[in-house]
Amino acid sequence: MVIKNTAVSKLVQEFKLLVDEPLKKYTSFKIGGPADLLALPKDKLELKKLIKKASVLDIPITLFGGGTNVLITDKGIRGLVIITKHLKSKIYTAQAGLQKKTIYVEAGERLSKVCLFAVQHSLSGLEDAAGIPGTVGGAIMMNAGTRTWNISDSLESIDVFDKNTLVFKTIKRKKLDFSYRQLNQSGIILAATLVLTPKPREEIEIIFKENLTRKNMVQPVSAASAGCFFKNPVSGKSAGELIDNSGLKGMKINDAMVSEKHANFIVNTGNASCEDVLLLKKHIQKIVLKNYHIKLETEVRLQGE
Ligand code: EPU
Repeated sequence: MVIKNTAVSKLVQEFKLLVDEPLKKYTSFKIGGPADLLALPKDKLELKKLIKKASVLDIPITLFGGGTNVLITDKGIRGLVIITKHLKSKIYTAQAGLQKKTIYVEAGERLSKVCLFAVQHSLSGLEDAAGIPGTVGGAIMMNAGTRTWNISDSLESIDVFDKNTLVFKTIKRKKLDFSYRQLNQSGIILAATLVLTPKPREEIEIIFKENLTRKNMVQPVSAASAGCFFKNPVSGKSAGELIDNSGLKGMKINDAMVSEKHANFIVNTGNASCEDVLLLKKHIQKIVLKNYHIKLETEVRLQGE
């Protein structure tokens, strides 16, 4: 990107924006072309100022959390990408009625740290989140979860910032439209209040550790991937089973491969491009459709030009 516009060049200087920054550095898939402009604001105030100025200049804005559930195109993302992972502060707890407690956490906090905090404070509710990568903000946008739990189950409210009106507001859980791996809500998530139940720490710890051990055993957690690639069908066999039973484990297109460990993971074994992953995705969908008459839908979000 050649910056000809003086106003944009001022924005770059003021907010120390990175220009033509490869996004593969910021995604767990290690895939993705450049962002024209990239920002890593250190707090809410800086984020607000940046959005205000970028909006005046009509620069399109894309938000990123931990980059753990996205597939970025090889051409990358036009406009400004804002990574919210530095938006974090102390985690606060509060009593909520007689039986419950809440924890307040900023959006850039890693979900793994929040899980640990809950265990250390004898708070139950996030045991299923053991080992889920990414930030709290990203997990809420994706309604991250397992077969039996979604983060929306543990949510009391979120704090969002409206890009257009530049107003902060708190939205209660019951006003939020969550579906499977999705939150339909505009605005930038800045923080969340989770509602948890006090329980003996040992009980929570045992379940948490069991979940983590199981996840490490069945999923390729240390490989470069974006987690489960396809959504599970509403009923019947899981996406992993359908792909596995179709004999596709280990199938490769260049460096994009169906994991040998869990068939619903596409892993980047070295230098896979987005195009390689998309070709592999199409192939998987074609074979599963032929074998089971089921059209697998992607869970991972494709972003970019
Ligand atoms: N299976 C196979 N072959 C495979 C993988 C799985 O036969 O290669 C079978 C398993 O034996 C099991 C069934 O498929 O009977 C379900 O597998 P698993 O328990 O691994 O759960 P999943 O439905 O594949 C879901 C979430 C995961 C989450 C786990 C935790 C989705 C799409 N996936 O996986 O979430 O970690 O439950 O139990 O909802 C993610 O969203 O990125 C993700 C990884």
